[in-house]
Amino acid sequence: METVVTIAAVRAMVRGWRKHGHRVAFVPTMGNLHAGHVSLIEAARRHGDRFVASIFVNPMQFGPNEDFAHYPRTPTEDGRMLAAAGCDLMFMPEGAEIYANGPERATRVEVPGLSRILEGEVRPGHFEGVATIVAKLLHIVEPDIAVFGEKDFQQLTVIRRMVADLCMPVEIIAAPTVRDADGFAKSSRNQYLNEAERALAPAIYSTLQAAARRLAAGDTEYASIEHAGFKALEAVGFRVDYFSVRQAVDLNAPGPSGALVVLTAARLGKARLIDNIRIERA
Ligand code: PAF
Repeated sequence: METVVTIAAVRAMVRGWRKHGHRVAFVPTMGNLHAGHVSLIEAARRHGDRFVASIFVNPMQFGPNEDFAHYPRTPTEDGRMLAAAGCDLMFMPEGAEIYANGPERATRVEVPGLSRILEGEVRPGHFEGVATIVAKLLHIVEPDIAVFGEKDFQQLTVIRRMVADLCMPVEIIAAPTVRDADGFAKSSRNQYLNEAERALAPAIYSTLQAAARRLAAGDTEYASIEHAGFKALEAVGFRVDYFSVRQAVDLNAPGPSGALVVLTAARLGKARLIDNIRIERA
């Protein structure tokens, strides 16, 4: 695996592959890789011939009181994991390579509506930061496909909309959430939990599953399902930001048909955890 830090080096490498007719798959990350990221690389391997991963902790998607400074950075281990997973190219730029004039003065990408609800309501500016960095990375790498995890379901929805709206020639592939044996979704932020909090954390997924069972049985009392989920998590000790039933396609309020998704974000100790569950309907 090659490691490069400049945009020019990524472009030279990818364009070389393309001349040989290779299909390029890309996985953007913020590093501190775990089994969830490896599953994204594995999904990429099923769709491409050459694999690029980026590691960049994007300042633009963090709010002023969020964990940008403390976000776990483990580049050496990340490099080992990517090489072992069969990655060909690791792009690890410095901040100035991506935001030459600083993130505050950079041109931004906004996906209206979708970016302001749920996570976007609690974390203003977050999805502007995500859409901007993903647009930039897609322009830099110019992949045929890019893989994103379903764990960040709203992020995936925002990116799909941005790619469609900006006519970007890339196929977005969704990879399923990777969970521990007790159902707790893998995330770099899980390490903020202490032992006692980690023991409580699977309640997030079991509460989502309880909501999903009601929805799958045809229950359309969405407000009651949301209230029950909110209260169940509060009873365990979470501070809940939202527990919401939405249409999977666009995260609008549920209509009469089509897949649903239940999304939640809740804080436990120093960690803010998000998860979701999808329910197919006729
Ligand atoms: O999901 C993430 O790790 C980040 O939001 C992403 C997509 C790499 C953009 O910084």
